[in-house]
Amino acid sequence: VVAALDGPAGLYVHIPFCERICPFCPYNKVAGGEEVAARYFDALQSELESFVAAHADRFGVPFSSLYLGGGTPTMYPDRLERVLAALPVAGPRAIEVLPTHGAVERLDDLRRIGVTSVSIGAQSFNDRVLRRLGRPHDAAMSHAAVTNAMGRFECVDVDLIVDVEWERGGLSGAFLRDVRDCFGLGVDQVSTYPLMRFGFTPFGAATHDRRREHAVLSRATEIAVRMGYERRSVWTFNRVGSPSYSSITRRRFIGAGAGASSFTGRDFFVNGFGVERYISSIITDGSAVDRSFRLGRWSGAAYEAFWQAYAGRVDPRTISDTYGRPVGDVAVACAKMLSVLGVLGRNGRGYVVTPRGFDIYHDLERSITYRFVEPLWAEMLAEGGNDGWARPERARSGLEWRVARRLYGRSVAGRGPLVS
Ligand SMILES: C[S@@+](CC[C@H](N)C(=O)[O-])C[C@H]1O[C@@H](n2cnc3c(N)ncnc32)[C@H](O)[C@@H]1O
Ligand code: SF4
Repeated sequence: VVAALDGPAGLYVHIPFCERICPFCPYNKVAGGEEVAARYFDALQSELESFVAAHADRFGVPFSSLYLGGGTPTMYPDRLERVLAALPVAGPRAIEVLPTHGAVERLDDLRRIGVTSVSIGAQSFNDRVLRRLGRPHDAAMSHAAVTNAMGRFECVDVDLIVDVEWERGGLSGAFLRDVRDCFGLGVDQVSTYPLMRFGFTPFGAATHDRRREHAVLSRATEIAVRMGYERRSVWTFNRVGSPSYSSITRRRFIGAGAGASSFTGRDFFVNGFGVERYISSIITDGSAVDRSFRLGRWSGAAYEAFWQAYAGRVDPRTISDTYGRPVGDVAVACAKMLSVLGVLGRNGRGYVVTPRGFDIYHDLERSITYRFVEPLWAEMLAEGGNDGWARPERARSGLEWRVARRLYGRSVAGRGPLVS
């Protein structure tokens, strides 16, 4: 993974344990337990040691950032502390916080061990919405976790979920009230995720009313502007001048832990999902990489441009500097065409995504999630990692995924074929 990198990277660490499984959530996780957690953290430590040594050898600088995600990364704080102590990181150190773990003492512990940014998984401040989501906390706890975090970290993000069908069915206005509450509290960032219906989760697949989704996000944008916030990406709003809490827009990242992925510029790698499978892979050959996708320079550039656009700007110069002049020229031509169509607007020598562009991106992002992420995760869950909560056979999977797998997918020796 490190050999494939074209420059220093951020580090992602996955903690795949949860106290209770939420029925809407597609992420790689299992119910925790002290014994399995102890063995998992030992394996994680060993995988991280290899990454730390290889990254230092190759680039001579610390990781540019750290992201602790899950699952529930706040579940085993003492074990986490030992992991963090051994990681050289220059930039922000961010973690996802389950509101149940949002008491002042626990947050102070996170700060003590070096965490600089938190994302509070509030989802809503409405008890009926939280019950529908099957969350392990109520609205009061969501609220307390957010207020406790404020002022303790450089950046506080709050995750909200919006499902326009629920808004129609008796919970009218709940999401926009949540958005207003967050802005009123003065948090740095509010992430507004449209509920994704992965077929393999207990919630199952469903269709979306995309026009209503566009309308509700555009209404949230109006409220944001009135209250001193700006739309900084497709699904995030930031207080003007505040830092961004970024989970998915790192340019290059190395992933450690079960199911973690890495993007190196031209290659994409995914570790096996199963916790036991992960532990035994690390013990037997020091790596848990299970899937490798060779994107090459054109698709690598498209991937990079896609995530630039998520964050609201496209800079063809970076694409040209990284992937070469011909790729950069095509990026400029595409950006010019998208400006004519009103999807991008000019901003100095770069481009910004317009409100119409954000609507199109919103649809595109979901389509990519259902066409590529869902079938990949379902395959990986079927091979281990599913302790009963997921039904991989119910996942969406279609021609696009089969073509992408054949074009880019490579099996990793000894871990089963990706393309048979
Ligand atoms: C790994 S989860 C959260 C971490 C922590 N375990 C928690 O629940 O608070 C990261 C975020 O993904 C979002 N998320 C989870 N499932 C989702 C889904 N099906 N659709 C949209 N967003 C989802 C939630 O907002 C959640 O806070
Ligand atoms: S939403 Fe968070 S707590 Fe719920 S299952 Fe997913 S990772 Fe676990």
